[in-house]
Amino acid sequence: MASVRDIARVSVRPSTNFHRRIKWMEGRTRNVARTRTGSISSCLVSNEKQKSAPTVSTDKLPLSTKTKEIIEREKRVLVGTYDRAPVLFVRGEGCKLYDVDGREYIDMAAGIAVNSLGHGDADWLKAVVEQANTLAHISNVYYSEAQVALAEHLVDSSFADRVFFANSGTEANEAAIKFSRKFQRYSRVSEEPLATEFISFSNSFHGRTMGALALTSKENYRLPFEPVMPGVTFIEYGNIEAAKKAIVPGKTAAVFVEPIQGEGGIHSATKEFLHTLRASCNDAGTLLVFDEVQCGLGRTGYLWAHKAYDVVPDMMTLAKPLAGGLPIGVVLTTKRVAAAISPGDHGSTFAGSPLVCHAALTVLKKIQEPSFLAGVTKKGLYLKELLSHKLSSNPHMKEVRGLGLIVGVELDVAASPLVDACRDEGLVVLTAGKGNVVRLVPPLIISEKELEQAAEIILRCLPSLDLAMA
Ligand SMILES: Cc1ncc(COP(=O)(O)O)c(C=O)c1O
Repeated sequence: MASVRDIARVSVRPSTNFHRRIKWMEGRTRNVARTRTGSISSCLVSNEKQKSAPTVSTDKLPLSTKTKEIIEREKRVLVGTYDRAPVLFVRGEGCKLYDVDGREYIDMAAGIAVNSLGHGDADWLKAVVEQANTLAHISNVYYSEAQVALAEHLVDSSFADRVFFANSGTEANEAAIKFSRKFQRYSRVSEEPLATEFISFSNSFHGRTMGALALTSKENYRLPFEPVMPGVTFIEYGNIEAAKKAIVPGKTAAVFVEPIQGEGGIHSATKEFLHTLRASCNDAGTLLVFDEVQCGLGRTGYLWAHKAYDVVPDMMTLAKPLAGGLPIGVVLTTKRVAAAISPGDHGSTFAGSPLVCHAALTVLKKIQEPSFLAGVTKKGLYLKELLSHKLSSNPHMKEVRGLGLIVGVELDVAASPLVDACRDEGLVVLTAGKGNVVRLVPPLIISEKELEQAAEIILRCLPSLDLAMA
């Protein structure tokens, strides 16, 4: 049977056809590479390759006074954790963003795979206003009907029996780490060794807090903060034999894996890989955790990415799109795992607030509609087809891949000049991988026409890759 990777991949052939100049949106011809740098990666920090990519100052798009002012003010008061793109967005509507100077952009980043319903969805807005007018926050000292309603809906729509709410992806993973440790302690027969270690994979990204960071493969993120949580072994993503050997009874508490890696460069697991992980975890008494923070909740055309693989985890973490732009994180798990958790083991002041949960319930109900998911599948295929068709003759193109509306365009050079040029031409996209992948994670409501426009802009901006190397 064809693997998901087989289904999802559309390879593109390189050739030598590229143009030195592109058409500016209003019809003027202008060079595409400008000095406005600051490509957006999912973490908003340029990696080495991006930083070293030369930019060409042939035709600089000037920053407005207001944008410059905010950049200067920001520098004076914020800790410099972000290498931001020099643009000041002030409004969003559907799949469009507008900057302070009134320029329109097609949003193919969706706030890093967050704004699945686009900007200002009317039902989401109604839910937020309704709940804000009633009761926004109460803490987890008290019961909340909105929280219970969302948890019921998540349980009804998934493998899970129990839900834990957090405020972000990293927090959801942090909770899953603690639940794994507690589960192993709780379920161990006294003379057995206690399984406390974790397995993660190459190109993984699980977050920035000390536990989730320990599971994140990229050394740039991890090494400056060592020691992080000890006991993590990294295995090559997709390497079945290595994974089988590494999952050891009485040692491995849990395996954390993204069914489709986002930040790492849009790599899809194969069915065989995830099924092997499931079987090895079963044999070893190890928990299998799917991090669907980026690939979950409809982005692949399946409600949960693991639905494409017919494999069920013991825990799944969610975050980004669930509350339509409000901060949320979730751990979904089974009764068996939840039985190990007692009051006081974990918690959060903010998590699962009525405001966030009411908004999230609205988002979940909309996304899980079969017609909505079918639309994502159709548009995802169309996007890959468009990109393959339009871009394949460029010599820098290596591959177009992904599933649904999580799509990566791998290049043989740094993607940042292209990302910058696209932004100047009115298209917002991200980088991923080692900085050589253009990541497209648009709002799931995007239209085919907007996808066509986006693909056309990418095509027009391809010469920026050569200009950057000149
Ligand atoms: C797969 C995955 N897990 C975890 C995280 C961390 O989420 P957050 O930034 O909300 O903490 C991310 C963020 O990009 C992610 O892509």
